Amino acid sequence: MQQSISLAEYQQRRQRILDHVSSHADHGVAVIAAASLQTRSRDTEYPFRQNSDFFYLTGFNEPDALLILAPGRAQQVILCCQPSDPAAEVWHGRRLGIDRAVAHLGVDVAHSIEDAEEVLLDVLNQADVVFSSHEDSSLLEQLHDVASALRQAPKQGYVAPSSWQDLSPFMADMRIIKSAAELDLMRAAAAISVAAHKRAMRFTKPGCYEFQVAAELHHEFARQGAHHPAYGSICGGGANACILHYTDNADELHDGDLILIDAGAEYQGYAGDITRTFPVNGRFSEAQAALYNVVLKAQLAALAAVTPGSSMPQATQAMALALTEGLVELGLLAGTPAQLVAEGAYKAFMIHGLGHWLGLDVHDVGTYSAAGKNRPFEPGMVLTIEPGVYIPHGMAGVDKKWHGLGIRIEDDVIVTATGHENMTAAAPKTVAEIETWMQG
Ligand code: GLY
Ligand code: MN
Ligand code: MN
Repeated sequence: MQQSISLAEYQQRRQRILDHVSSHADHGVAVIAAASLQTRSRDTEYPFRQNSDFFYLTGFNEPDALLILAPGRAQQVILCCQPSDPAAEVWHGRRLGIDRAVAHLGVDVAHSIEDAEEVLLDVLNQADVVFSSHEDSSLLEQLHDVASALRQAPKQGYVAPSSWQDLSPFMADMRIIKSAAELDLMRAAAAISVAAHKRAMRFTKPGCYEFQVAAELHHEFARQGAHHPAYGSICGGGANACILHYTDNADELHDGDLILIDAGAEYQGYAGDITRTFPVNGRFSEAQAALYNVVLKAQLAALAAVTPGSSMPQATQAMALALTEGLVELGLLAGTPAQLVAEGAYKAFMIHGLGHWLGLDVHDVGTYSAAGKNRPFEPGMVLTIEPGVYIPHGMAGVDKKWHGLGIRIEDDVIVTATGHENMTAAAPKTVAEIETWMQG
């Protein structure tokens, strides 16, 4: 098991929010809410997944909690959480409880979540600015209810907050640069995801089903301490690979087809996100290998462009040129590559973007451009590079020999001081590596 994030690091993160609030308001307060359980069927729930911002600031993995950061108060870091309740815990599992929360999470004071309204009335009273995620509509509603109550009781000396600010952009800017401890956890998520892909490759053969391949992935995730996939695993045989978010995973796999697997483990909150495409029978046909190598060249061109100061659009440009050259060589596009890139002709075959930030969320927070400028890559950023080519059956103007092929190759990379580190390089990727691994 990898070491978790230290208490000191959580405290430093909360201090950055406290500093942000006090630099923008005389009496500001920030409120961040935990997730709640979601009903799956009658009285059973989906597996609990913590709100990523809340988890980033606390490491606390229980539902129904609030983190309140109120700079300038004697107790600046306030937690409301579920109280200990032996009867409830026998049914639903252990709770940290109020008494243990202070020492365990390093907060200044803890209250029961049942007293949240009272606590919020106190901290929001006379506050000039309230910072919260404006993506969290149920929290906003709760805060506005508290503000209404304050507005209705001026005789008691209550003053409602006058201004509301979205905390999300600031938190996104914090989260986009990963600390050394976060990078270690992301390397662990990547390594588990690599092991799962290798296991699935060895398992796959004609006649087995997509859901059986998915079961192999999930077995390996769980076996290595990743209790959940980071997103719905995609195991698409044949033309199912052309459905970008195919998660039915219901079909039989056929001799002569490729299978596209897009799956990653979530480890201690952090996502892995790998795609590999390989032949069901262990051997690429000539046409499959030719198209596969075009996607691979494009992926390698994009990876080479992941260096500090470069950007997602720059990496996309490098990918687009390599992909277009390859598609021209195979006769899938006609014209000069430079002109075709300018026209975006490759987008007929690749309708999604090159990649995305990766972290606590698989499509992690953070902008790709700001004030009209591309956001430059900086050391500590983590992103995916995942070009693809998709040729569904019946695609007009395309030779039938390519129909039904969907190929994507995806790796997870850290931007380093001098270039990048590919955390998922150990998942077989060249035609030779894949065929050799599948024969083992
Ligand atoms: N697995 C979703 C993605 O690759 O973006
Ligand atoms: Mn993916
Ligand atoms: Mn991805």
